[in-house]
Amino acid sequence: MFEHIPAYPGDPILSLNEDFHRDARLGKVNLSIGIYFDAKGLLPVLRVVQHAEQALQGERGEGPRPYLPMSGIASYREAVQALVFGTDGPLLRDERVATLQTLGGSGALKVGSDFLRRLFPQSQVWISDPSWENHRVVFEGSGFTVHTYPYYDAATGGLQFEAMMAAIAALPPRSIVLLHACCHNPTGVDLSHEQWLQLAPVLRERESIAFIDMAYQGFGAGLDDDAFAVRTLAQAGVACVVANSFSKNFSLYGERCGGLSVVCADADEAQRVQGQLNGTVRANYSNPPTHGAKVIAAILNDAELRRQWTTELSDMRERIAAMRRSLHADLSSRISSPRLDRYVQQRGMFTYTGLTAGQVDRLRIEHGIYLLRSGRLCIAGLNAGNVGQVARAIAAVMAT
Ligand code: LMR
Repeated sequence: MFEHIPAYPGDPILSLNEDFHRDARLGKVNLSIGIYFDAKGLLPVLRVVQHAEQALQGERGEGPRPYLPMSGIASYREAVQALVFGTDGPLLRDERVATLQTLGGSGALKVGSDFLRRLFPQSQVWISDPSWENHRVVFEGSGFTVHTYPYYDAATGGLQFEAMMAAIAALPPRSIVLLHACCHNPTGVDLSHEQWLQLAPVLRERESIAFIDMAYQGFGAGLDDDAFAVRTLAQAGVACVVANSFSKNFSLYGERCGGLSVVCADADEAQRVQGQLNGTVRANYSNPPTHGAKVIAAILNDAELRRQWTTELSDMRERIAAMRRSLHADLSSRISSPRLDRYVQQRGMFTYTGLTAGQVDRLRIEHGIYLLRSGRLCIAGLNAGNVGQVARAIAAVMAT
């Protein structure tokens, strides 16, 4: 029956991460997957998460586990809305946002993509060149044709903003434009506030649907600053669909917690959209799981726990920035290349090193250092104990 089925070629991120775990060498370094490791190279359990989990443990543990509603836990969804859109604008007051609790950011992308495919069957999707590998997979999986718009400038390590604007300004109405709110994956190159303000009227005039992926809120400049793009486009009247993830900023990867929000014209439209989103969830996985969402809702809805969380998140952000500076300083002491500036200019978890696939292969084979073959390096996998080793190895493969 299944003889004709070809082998799965693997995923460029998840399969490489599996290869890393199979590698028996001591001193190997994982800079492949977008996961934050702490100064000791360990996956942290945030203290605030431990506090919230302890508080949720009553005599009977967390108690019974009925099915959640298709949309998820109401207090979690409200907390998502406040974190993504801010509490002081008219959007939430006027109940114009429909929101789901989703299975991480990927689940939000999938449900959002299926929802749009059903309701905008003529539309096509544009993603940045390059983008997170799975964006294309998810949208094509829903049946969309996926194109790219210019984004990264390999020569400068920065943004091709004018080319990006020109491409978006020429799109047919109701095109779906996938944008990264902050900490662009894989390049670490973001639009400035000024550039978002310039892009907003173009998207509105072209009647584009902005599908904004915010997987790294808090890892760029801070929770509010990182949401600038979302809030600016939503306030400018752009049709917005927002996927947000709590995998990284709560270090709760395996709990699969995220959100999908659709900004609507009014409360009545938002209710109808919410119903269609719920129906899309029912067709995919019926309803989301409980534990991680309860923990996150408990933290976001309590002023003291939330304060603790933002402090721990700032610590993670600052440690990443310190590792960027450290890698840059060490590399600069070994080699001289204008390409090194991008290590400190780009932000968030990733740096697009400009290393070729061949150089990346040498890093892995000769030095046990794992990066994506696109040259993406996860800065959050560096620490004081391995940054020198990584700099030495990068300098060696760049020199020969
Ligand atoms: C990444 O880009 O490495 C992360 O978002 C993990 C993933 O699922 O690809």
